[in-house]
Amino acid sequence: MINKNILDKTKKKLIILNTLVVGVLFLIFSMFIYGYFYNLTYKEVDKGLYRQFDMITKKTKEEFRYPIKSGNMAIGPQGHITYILKNGKVVYGYENDRANYIRPYEYYDKVKNGITSYKYGGHNFRELKQTQGEYTLEIIKVVDVEVGLLKQLVFVLLIGMMLSLGVVYLTSRFLTQKSLEPIEASWENQVLFVQDASHELRTPLAIIFSKIEGIIKRPESTVDDEMKNLTIVMKEARRLRKLVSDLLKLTKEDAIVTINKSTFNLEELVKEILVDYRDIASLQDKVVNFNSKLRNINIYCDREKIKQLLIILIDNAIKYTNPEGRIDVILSESMHSINIIIKDNGIGIKEDEIKNIFNRFYRSNSLRGKDIEGSGVGLSIAKTIISNLRGNIEVESKIREGTSFYVNIPK
Ligand SMILES: Nc1ncnc2c1ncn2[C@@H]1O[C@H](COP(=O)(O)OP(=O)(O)OP(=O)(O)O)[C@@H](O)[C@H]1O
Ligand SMILES: [Mg+2]
Repeated sequence: MINKNILDKTKKKLIILNTLVVGVLFLIFSMFIYGYFYNLTYKEVDKGLYRQFDMITKKTKEEFRYPIKSGNMAIGPQGHITYILKNGKVVYGYENDRANYIRPYEYYDKVKNGITSYKYGGHNFRELKQTQGEYTLEIIKVVDVEVGLLKQLVFVLLIGMMLSLGVVYLTSRFLTQKSLEPIEASWENQVLFVQDASHELRTPLAIIFSKIEGIIKRPESTVDDEMKNLTIVMKEARRLRKLVSDLLKLTKEDAIVTINKSTFNLEELVKEILVDYRDIASLQDKVVNFNSKLRNINIYCDREKIKQLLIILIDNAIKYTNPEGRIDVILSESMHSINIIIKDNGIGIKEDEIKNIFNRFYRSNSLRGKDIEGSGVGLSIAKTIISNLRGNIEVESKIREGTSFYVNIPK
């Protein structure tokens, strides 16, 4: 299905995006950590170099001008290698060191004033170099351990990054799946809805077509002759019109879903609705009674939704009662909920049909042949409203005796 493809693509995009964002964040984090430890490590090393430098320059205040005997201070307390050069020639250092004088640098990196770092003979060095007149003082430290540790840190960060990317990939796959589930469901719902709707539209259209075809085939007949067929066409056209307007209502399901709460007087709302419906009812010799047992008539809920819900149920109750029927609207409340009962002594619903009445476009079979208009969407809207208000609705019905709808809405 095309729909599935679009959703799958979206899923993939979301997963990649999530993983990428986390990857970049982790990279920045890793760079920060690395930078922090790099600075920390070399700050200590450089401190050592300066300390050694101070020590030597103090000790050699005089001697510095005159070459010191070798072997004196070549290796400092912290493993520093020291060279003193005069006019570019090594005049001080271990005999050994003098021979292996660390030159030329394989990789030379000027870090900051006077300090360089380089590789030589497979080792890493950091060097402080100062020149005074014809003398040059070089203090060098082997930083293999530090470089090794930093390399290990990079390794650990890389592993961490891989692992976290893996974990993020899996979690984002799971979360994307979860978060797209309702969209998927509503998408499937839409497809079903369009299928249902077109099916519903087809029936009246088919009837209209067949009746009109029949009429066209009998050009000699008068309007009077065709009165029966024309009435049917008219009726089906009317049904079509109602269906279309109901469908339009359904496409505004957004409006059903979004909740807009306020405090309002429930008794007043029912009375307001009943003003219109009592007129309709009395034309058909039906009575609508209203009885409220509310302690607190003001409730905090979505007024428009409650109104819509009441209208759907009251409209049905009046529609599906016989002349001289009786309809009761009863309000009461319990600890946590408002209870609304809408009861009629009308035609009732067959037991095996009760489970279907909340389905879109469902109309009871026993309505066939009866001239009661409807498209079967009222109760499906009522159900959506109630579930959005986190309430619940129950039906009790006996065929030819009557129907009661019990609505509970949390306070
Ligand atoms: N109070 C009732 N008494 C008997 N049957 C009822 C009652 N309320 C609902 N029904 C049955 O449930 C079906 C679905 O009701 P619903 O309100 O969804 O649609 P409808 O009344 O047929 O059309 P509309 O969309 O115009 O309301 C009705 O067709 C009817 O068969
Ligand atoms: Mg209805």
